[in-house]
Amino acid sequence: MNAAALTYRVVPSSHARSAEQRAAILAGELGFGKYFSDHMVAIQWDKTQGWHDATVCAYGPLSLDPSASVLHYGQEIFEGIKAYRHADGSIWTFRPEANGARLQRSAARLALPQLPVAEFVESLRQLVAIDHAWVPSAPESSLYFRPFMIATEAFLGVRAAQAAGYYVIASPAGAYFAKGVAPVSIWLSEDYARAAKGGTGAAKCGGNYAASLLPQQEAQAHGCSQVLFLDPVEGKYLEELGGMNVFLVFKDGRIVTPALSGSILEGITRSSILQLARDRGLAVEERQVAIDEWKQGVASGEITEVFACGTAAVVTPIGELKGKDFAVGDIHAPAGEVTMSIRKELTDIQYGRLPDRHGWLVRLR
Ligand code: PLP
Ligand code: COI
Repeated sequence: MNAAALTYRVVPSSHARSAEQRAAILAGELGFGKYFSDHMVAIQWDKTQGWHDATVCAYGPLSLDPSASVLHYGQEIFEGIKAYRHADGSIWTFRPEANGARLQRSAARLALPQLPVAEFVESLRQLVAIDHAWVPSAPESSLYFRPFMIATEAFLGVRAAQAAGYYVIASPAGAYFAKGVAPVSIWLSEDYARAAKGGTGAAKCGGNYAASLLPQQEAQAHGCSQVLFLDPVEGKYLEELGGMNVFLVFKDGRIVTPALSGSILEGITRSSILQLARDRGLAVEERQVAIDEWKQGVASGEITEVFACGTAAVVTPIGELKGKDFAVGDIHAPAGEVTMSIRKELTDIQYGRLPDRHGWLVRLR
């Protein structure tokens, strides 16, 4: 990875919250994505100058031309990555080069400019340098970074924009799901796909999430907290949830997750769990998984646990899968042992309670 080269202009906020106001927020119920730190990073790009004008400035509204292409054609990508406070007060992040590389792949697919990975990591470091006090220290809490890139060129023609902005905002976060780490119910989306063959499913772009909101409403109407999507070609194989990858644990110890199909987001949590499972000597399979295998396996006891994983919600047990005319699993059963022990191992590494044997942690402060 080349060194970061951009020089930042730092303009501290004139209306940053006081230490007391911040402490009151951090001591409360943080939930997910409700509060934001005092500053943000902004870096501009255009075709002639490349990346330039890197700033750390007050968190606040962006000024966009109403014809900016992001507002019309959805040319937008984002990332999700956390900062963890260790017991000694130091602040670390997890595999940021992987997020930076994924942002580059998303950029390539959405015809946006590629931010060098070193600049991505440096942007997190810059934000933490000024807003480190917003990294909470309560158990399992973190500062969630939301890096994103938008096409800002003022032009209504349909082509890749020649100007873009990259930003990072940060949100102190607790549990993603209101009930914390408890088994959730998942709704099988039978009418809607999240992504198409040859589409943008493997990119982390806003449009994928926009497409998931109606099925997500359908899920909520059926008492479920997330949607499971099937492959867009045959409507038969598991892909992923609206915002998480999925794993099945078999009675014989095998851990199975859908293979990357071109329309699944390649989760960094997913790849880390595959590694942790291999380290344990478990048989790991990345392959097509038919939805009927899930239904029949859970009903027969062949599949003993199912869980979802992603940065925001870490590892979340799936208690029950529901569809229009079926339900499998037991939402009242306790979370599975393998699920919870993988969750614990991963979070123990992230919070510095276990040795970082794969060199996944990067110190931010
Ligand atoms: N799949 C989707 C659709 C997501 O939004 C996310 C969250 O980022 C993931 C999977 C998990 O990815 P990661 O583990 O890198 O957070
Ligand atoms: C994440 O886990 O970082 C996600 O992006 C999931 C969701 C909040 C979009």
